[in-house]
Amino acid sequence: MSSDDTRDGVRDQALGIAAGWSPPDAPAAWALTAELFRAIAQEDALLDLAAAIPADRLPPLLLSAAVRHLVARDRPAPLAGYFPTPGSGQPPLDAGFRPALVAFATERADDLAALCREHRYQMNEVGRSADVLAVLADIAPDRPLALVDLGTGAGLGLHLDRYRYRFATGSGEVVVGDPDSGVELACDVRGDAPLPDAVPRITARAGVDVEPLDLDQAPVRDWLTACIPPETGAVDRFAAASAIARANPARLVRGDLVDTVAAVCAEMPDDALLVLVDTYVHVFLPDDERARFLALLPRLGRDLEWISVDPLVPLGPESRDSVQGLPVPERAIEACRAGVTGVVGRLSVRDGAVSGRVLGLAHPGAAWLEWLT
Ligand SMILES: C[S@@+](CC[C@H](N)C(=O)[O-])C[C@H]1O[C@@H](n2cnc3c(N)ncnc32)[C@H](O)[C@@H]1O
Repeated sequence: MSSDDTRDGVRDQALGIAAGWSPPDAPAAWALTAELFRAIAQEDALLDLAAAIPADRLPPLLLSAAVRHLVARDRPAPLAGYFPTPGSGQPPLDAGFRPALVAFATERADDLAALCREHRYQMNEVGRSADVLAVLADIAPDRPLALVDLGTGAGLGLHLDRYRYRFATGSGEVVVGDPDSGVELACDVRGDAPLPDAVPRITARAGVDVEPLDLDQAPVRDWLTACIPPETGAVDRFAAASAIARANPARLVRGDLVDTVAAVCAEMPDDALLVLVDTYVHVFLPDDERARFLALLPRLGRDLEWISVDPLVPLGPESRDSVQGLPVPERAIEACRAGVTGVVGRLSVRDGAVSGRVLGLAHPGAAWLEWLT
């Protein structure tokens, strides 16, 4: 691929991320995230750095994390003042942000490139638990669950029963979950989503990741914090959810999810409904690995549900297929082509028979959930 093609590809990815996280109707606090990714697409000082990152390492996202990491550590003025920290609220965005960012990227290009070489982009968006909970409301409101979070990262999705949820609907609010939780996940619901009366009881839980992340290590926490989009709600909920995960250590299995899922599921209690969750994980698997995963589910020898919140594949303007192999409504194709969007799907295995449906669309930071009917 020529360097022009590489730059065009990275530019498109950055604009797709900006459009997904901050579409025209997104809450105002997402504007800084959009402007950061638009600057990566449009400013040579940033695009040069991103285009030098191997394509499989998510160049715009990795560069955004490197910028956030250095800014949080060195607090350069005036740039640092634009970024939220836990509890700060969203600082105002103004026309000074982009020149400050470009000047910083120019001056610190070598440090940014080094950070990009040394790290992987590792997203942990606990807000996606709200999308998962909406699907669970429809599945088994009264049954205890055995939860297996595939591609769990730092394991924040394993504690979905330890958060409080505030779903805003056209007719009012539905608030469920732990009233004393330090994490409140707020989500605007569009359409007729089956909202829960309560969070389910989870009697067993385990996470799988090729690289499980240890939140007890300060450098790991600092890097993961840098990978969070600079939106005040995302920054606050990551900090609070990290504290909950550290206080409630869960089983994290290191390994490839396709290779390990059978063994991990075999350890789950028989009297609980087995629920596999994957949020923004299967989208990154090669086609043959996704096919291998799908083929092994009916052979696990027990009933299960798989809830997926993933963009359609392939990522980008050619998006068309559900990672679960489900029929895809036109509305989901349109949304994924316009910008990075989570497609919420449910696939069930009952007595070895597989069925499923795409249910909704979700903002990547879980600001909204659109139910498809
Ligand atoms: C984009 S992050 C999503 C993390 C989390 N589920 C979320 O929604 O915030 C993808 C995660 O999947 C993990 N991952 C990618 N491929 C994997 C595989 N084949 N097996 C297990 N984990 C994988 C990565 O290490 C990373 O932690």
